[in-house]
Amino acid sequence: METHAAAGAPQRPRVFSGMQPTSVLHLGNYLGALKHWVAGQHERDNVFCVVDLHVLTIPEAVDPAELRARSRSVAALYLAAGIDPERSTVFVQSHVPEHAEASWLFNCVAPLGWLQRMTQFKAKTHGRESIGSGLLTYPALMAADILLHDTDEVPVGEDQMQHVELTRDLAVRFHHLFGEVFVLPRAVIPTAGARIMGFDDPEAKMSKSTAEERPGHAVFLLDTPDAVRKTIMSAVTDSGRELRFEHASAGVRNLLTVWQSLDGRPMPEIEAEIAGRGYGDLKKRVVEVVVDALEPIQSRYHALMDDQAELDALLARGAERARETASRTLARMQAAVGVGA
Ligand code: AMP
Ligand code: TRP
Repeated sequence: METHAAAGAPQRPRVFSGMQPTSVLHLGNYLGALKHWVAGQHERDNVFCVVDLHVLTIPEAVDPAELRARSRSVAALYLAAGIDPERSTVFVQSHVPEHAEASWLFNCVAPLGWLQRMTQFKAKTHGRESIGSGLLTYPALMAADILLHDTDEVPVGEDQMQHVELTRDLAVRFHHLFGEVFVLPRAVIPTAGARIMGFDDPEAKMSKSTAEERPGHAVFLLDTPDAVRKTIMSAVTDSGRELRFEHASAGVRNLLTVWQSLDGRPMPEIEAEIAGRGYGDLKKRVVEVVVDALEPIQSRYHALMDDQAELDALLARGAERARETASRTLARMQAAVGVGA
């Protein structure tokens, strides 16, 4: 099966992506992923998942009540950022049990060596005393997410590219062993905003785990204007005055990237606006742009969170829709391997 369209479904390519509800999403998640999902949703047939089962791969870090609350909160952030639940399917991974079931079948065809080679596995196990086997088999669950939905395109940051390639390899291996079942997906890496760096350390990617340890590292999508101001005004720059992107230091480039990605105008226009001023002015302007961008997202978020029954109903509808495709694909997998009723 070449593409989702070739499988007899509508012509629009099927997009699937997801994020782990490990914390409130930050500006890197928004500019590197969520904003692109929103922008692409009109020409595509989209499925956006809150991958709560993936969070369990590091069980020591899980607070059960918090995990449940965060899954709903991240789903609300998807919607608040502009994902239209009429146009896109939004659901929580564990609400569609076919994902866990299919992941077992992928575990059984996934060679140990392929899983052990994953750079994220190596990074996450480094220095850790106790490692759950779920951390190793995590890509088999991700393969289930993607392949169950006849996905053509997977928009993710660079760090997830290897997992999407492994997904393709697992699909091909399954086909060799049991016959054709899946649409083969490809990763789509955004060019703009692909890597937002930490405000306190512009050499390191903005990340949820670092943000938990260091207050000045990230701006979270639910930060107050004061918190945004504090983080951005103390962003690391350098001692110069260079405000042209090409020649600027990593910290200044990061600020210009955040501004340009939220503003949408080409970089030369941004550079012209700030020309002749200093880093203090640049930071103040970036604070304004970020606060203005977050304000409507936050007000939609709070409205959604104020009506829990409506949010639950939206997620139940999402899960029901996701289940239709997922159960069809799982049935094809089961038929191919000789299990299931
Ligand atoms: P994570 O926060 O690692 O669970 O990532 C969720 C999504 O956000 C993935 O598609 C990442 O590639 C993207 N992402 C995470 N951090 C950044 C960042 N600093 N810059 C750009 N994209 C990011
Ligand atoms: N592994 C991804 C991350 O940590 C999240 C994820 C799980 C995902 N399943 C997915 C992303 C399917 C895209 C498609 O960011």
